[in-house]
This record gives sequence, C-alpha cells and structure tokens, in this order.
Amino acid sequence: MAKNSTVFICSECGCEQSKWLGKCPSCNSWNTFYEEKITKTTNKNNFNENIISKPINLQDIKIEDVPRFNTGFEELNRVLGGGLVQGSLTLVGGDPGVGKSTLVLQLCNKIDVTGKILYVSGEESGTQIKLRADRLHVVKDNIIFLGETNMELIEDTIKDIKPQLVIIDSIQTMYSDDITSVSGSVSQVRECTSQIMQICKKQNISTILIGHVTKEGAIAGPRVLEHMVDTVLYLEGERYLIYRILRSVKNRFGATNEIGIFEMQDNGLSEINNPSTFLLSDRSENLCGTVIVPALEGTRTILVELQSLVTRTVFGMPRRTTLGIDFNKLNLLMAVIEKHLDISLGNFDAYTNVVGGIKIYEPAIDLAIAMTVLSSLKNIPISNDTVVIGEIGLNGEIKSVNLIENRVKESEKMGFKKCIIPKSNKDSIKGKYVIEIIGVSDLKEAIDEVIG
Ligand code: TYD
Ligand code: MG
Repeated sequence: MAKNSTVFICSECGCEQSKWLGKCPSCNSWNTFYEEKITKTTNKNNFNENIISKPINLQDIKIEDVPRFNTGFEELNRVLGGGLVQGSLTLVGGDPGVGKSTLVLQLCNKIDVTGKILYVSGEESGTQIKLRADRLHVVKDNIIFLGETNMELIEDTIKDIKPQLVIIDSIQTMYSDDITSVSGSVSQVRECTSQIMQICKKQNISTILIGHVTKEGAIAGPRVLEHMVDTVLYLEGERYLIYRILRSVKNRFGATNEIGIFEMQDNGLSEINNPSTFLLSDRSENLCGTVIVPALEGTRTILVELQSLVTRTVFGMPRRTTLGIDFNKLNLLMAVIEKHLDISLGNFDAYTNVVGGIKIYEPAIDLAIAMTVLSSLKNIPISNDTVVIGEIGLNGEIKSVNLIENRVKESEKMGFKKCIIPKSNKDSIKGKYVIEIIGVSDLKEAIDEVIG
C-alpha cells in the first residue's frame, strides 16, 4: 500500500492526524486542521553540534552568570527575568495590530547592545519601518534593516554581518527552501524557527521572533513554537483601550506569569511603572458594587477595581456575564452566597467586571467578588478606603491566601485604611502595619465588616 504523503496538522497546537478532523482532540479548537505535505526533516536540530556531549556529574557543572542585555524598559526587563539573555530565543506573540512591531522597534532603540541589530521584516518595507522609526524617535545607528522572507538568505546575511540581536517580524511570513508547504503553515513555521535557532545558538546571537495569534487557523499560531523557544511573551490589549499587557507564559531564565504594563501613545509604547495608581485614577466616591482588591500578577501586587451590577431579571433565565474573571467563578460564588447567607439570587441578573481590561484568575479575589455582588444587591456602598482579600470555600469559609504581606503592604502604600483578610492569615502579619487589619473566617463575618 502506498504511504500517505500528506498529513493534517492543527494550526493552533500542531497536533498531527492522518485524516481531517473538525475538532482538534488535543486543544479542542474547531476547524483548525490543514493538509500539509509530509516533509523529511534532516537531523539538523542538534544546534550544539560543535560541542561533543559527554556525561558529566551535575555537581561539576559550573554556573556562569548569564549575561543579559538591559532592554531600556524596566517593565520588559522584569518580564524577561532581568533583561534579555544573550543567545536566547524569545517569541513575542499577540493579535495583529496590538503593537508587537512597535514594541520591538523601540526595544532596538533602547537596548544596550553595542554590536549590530538585524531587523528582518517580511511584512513591511524599509520605508514603512523607517516611517515608524521616525515616529518612535529611533536614533540608534546600529539597526540594519532587511526586507526578506527566505530563511536561507537571512542566514547568509546573519553570517555576513554578525549581529548581536536579530528580530524576525514575523515568523509566519518566513519560508525555507527545504520545505514545500506555503509560508505560515505549521511545518514552515517550525522549520524556520529551528533554522534560526541553530544559527543563533551557535553564534550566541539573541533572537526575537514575532508571531501573530490568529483566529482563522489558516496560519499557524505561535503556540506551535512554544516548546522550541526559551521565552514566550504575549502582548495583550483591547483595541479600544490604550494600555497593553506583556505577559510571560514561559521563561527559561526567570519567573513566568510576570506582567508588564504599557500605554500606547502617539509616539509608541511607554511603560506604566505604578499600575495601581494608574488603574485607580478615576474612582468615584461611594458607588455600590465596587471594591478594590490587591491581586497578584507574577511577583507584583496590583490593586484593581472590581465591579458588579445585580439587577432583577426581567424575563426568563437570569443572565450572568463576566469580564476579566472566570464566568464559572461568578456562578459558583453566587451559589455559595445563596446557600450560606440564605439570600435568593435566582431572580437576579449579575454582571461582574475588572476595571481597565485586566484579567485575574487567582482565587484570592473571591471574597471581593462576593462583596461587590452583595453590595450591589443591597444597594449599600463599600467604603472607598477598604480593600478585600480572601478565597471562599464551598461552605462559605474564608481560606488563607498566599503572599499576604505583599498585598497588605501595597494597600498601605496606596493609602488604604482598612484591609479585610482571612483570619488564618492575620497572625503572620500582626503588628507589622499601620493599616487596620480585620480577619474574617466566613462570609457572614465578612459581610458584617464590609457592608454592615
Ligand atoms: P504594530 O506594532 O504595527 O502592531 P503589530 O506589529 O502587533 O501588528 O502596531 C500597530 C498599531 O499601533 C496601530 O493600530 C497604530 C498603533 N500605534 C500607535 O498608536 N502609536 C504609535 O506610535 C505606533 C507606532 C503605532
Ligand atoms: Mg507588525
């Protein structure tokens, strides 16, 4: 029997199947399978081929300090774990138009790389990049532009000009002669990445790949590359909001889940070093259904405002909608309130959101969500100088949260007067802060303290 010469690959996660499927069994996305020719890959993946591997005792391996470049952006440095590691491969993903090229071009201007920087663009012409560079006030004279999409030619250029930093904008526009499928397909994107990885690792060149997150699936998303690169960053942001969040989802040289916050302006992205001030800037006095919660993002605490609106259902099933928090969490918390406080919510719609387009998925915001729902339901405002922290168990008990000190410290720093925390957390921080700290052990106690 003749062997299959094509394979179907999911453009979301790279899962391979011998026949077409409507739904990917691996990542559950629909309509993402595309037919691709099977390509014989030569065994070129051992990028350390000049090093002959010998087994060595772990204790004998000497750690040298990883040299890092200062990117010139404090936020970006922190997300990267202290700067861009020399010789590392970084993937910057995000929706088209979110500002990836802008961020990377600004980085080229600010980073303390003394050697050459090669900016390879398969999307924009030299003129377009130059226009953007002028707008962003890029003044460095070591940035070299190359408008090329063929990997082999890019490789030659890298060998030729020996840059210290290479930017590939975007990986989905690149193609390699070794592979017959169209550029943007899973196998092309993987092959191009592995080629660039070999050359850069061999020559100790830092590389930044830009990858578009796609909804349609015809182009392979950056997720198919996540396992190959050292660091994966995603630039997120709503089209109608000015700020952008850079999130690290994988980092071989630092903590993950770290975020950096930027603001998109006329002359590019500028960092927001104190996000709490920024997020709380336009709060009004004494509104019902809103409270501040110190949430953890990576290693940093950010004070965010949570809001809920609870209204009587006019027709049929009650509606529940969330923005920035998990939908099921709202449902679950409302069920806990119903059962534990004996309040009927079956005839009420509930809408909860996090102000400013931030997304928070940690359980420490449970108590704050419950308090906003109750405050809106009862039409009683929560005092403006109070913050609420705590995880809620299914029996209405308040469970302790991690890193309580950071949260209390940030709240005190931002001028809040009262801090509602889980009782079990209270002992560890007794007497250390000026801010009034109140420990609560269940929902009833919390509601007495917060809403009264
Ligand atoms: P861009 O970096 O081209 O996005 P990506 O590379 O992720 O596709 O950013 C494009 C958007 O950013 C565009 O909508 C315009 C906006 N923008 C500004 O608001 N200010 C600026 O200074 C620049 C350069 C872009
Ligand atoms: Mg771009």
